[in-house]
Amino acid sequence: MSAVIIDGKAVAAKVKSDVAAKVASLNEKGIRPCLAVVLVGDNPASVSYVTGKRKALAEAGMVDRSVILPAETSEEEVLRLIDELNKDPEVHGILVQLPLPKHIDEKKVTNAILPEKDVDGFHPVNVGKLVTGEDGFLPCTPNGITVLLKEAGIETSGKKCVVIGRSNIVGKPMALLMLRKEFNATVTVCHTGTKNIAEFTKDADIVIAASGHPSTLTADMIKDGAVVIDVGVNRIPDSSKKSGFRLVGDVDFEGIKEKASFITPVPGGVGPMTIAMLIYNTLQAAENTLK
Ligand code: GUN
Repeated sequence: MSAVIIDGKAVAAKVKSDVAAKVASLNEKGIRPCLAVVLVGDNPASVSYVTGKRKALAEAGMVDRSVILPAETSEEEVLRLIDELNKDPEVHGILVQLPLPKHIDEKKVTNAILPEKDVDGFHPVNVGKLVTGEDGFLPCTPNGITVLLKEAGIETSGKKCVVIGRSNIVGKPMALLMLRKEFNATVTVCHTGTKNIAEFTKDADIVIAASGHPSTLTADMIKDGAVVIDVGVNRIPDSSKKSGFRLVGDVDFEGIKEKASFITPVPGGVGPMTIAMLIYNTLQAAENTLK
């Protein structure tokens, strides 16, 4: 059997065009949805993510109030900027690209963003709402994955779902989302302390790999017909590429696609959905100001 390759780019394009239509109707009411992306330093992966986010903002017809700061910017300056953006009624969403330079406390910065402008869903208020099932901003990558699963028509209720990775950005919120009644899966989280990951993944209907390491999941670790979602974005040196690298995920795509029922590619799977859901959350933040 060869797996269906889930086209994240196509699903993301659909989400983004729905958002763009709603932006146009908000504009008629005098509201111009606006996001401020804050980037400190020039980490190449972060620069590339921020470029992608800003491009999507422009395509959706949103206002881009992004701020690019040098790596030496002090924590105090970043906090001052967040305070200004919090107070600005024309700014609906604020996103600080992570990781931040080592001299800046990420928690302090994330927690300084007003929860109603926290379109990343990283503020403890939004994390708490995710846990208890209240409406709040959902983290973009896990939320995007649930949209991919829905669009592909994958049943999650009663299924065994294994999440590999326990980061605050992906693993933990992913597990909490799949646990919600809406998705109703039986969730297991594997992490660096897990002795034998294969013991869990072999039994799983859905595996979501977010370990941050290539080949974390190989074909021998899954059962026939499993659904495999690859969250990894790893840069592998490749002299045949102009950039000098190529992107690979956390799963062994070539091997797994012969055994799984569905798989997401890297690039073109989860990545585009992260950006689409950011645009979606920003629209939500702008619409919330009408309530
Ligand atoms: N770094 C890696 N992923 C993300 C994300 O989703 N949001 C932010 N702000 N930083 C990130």
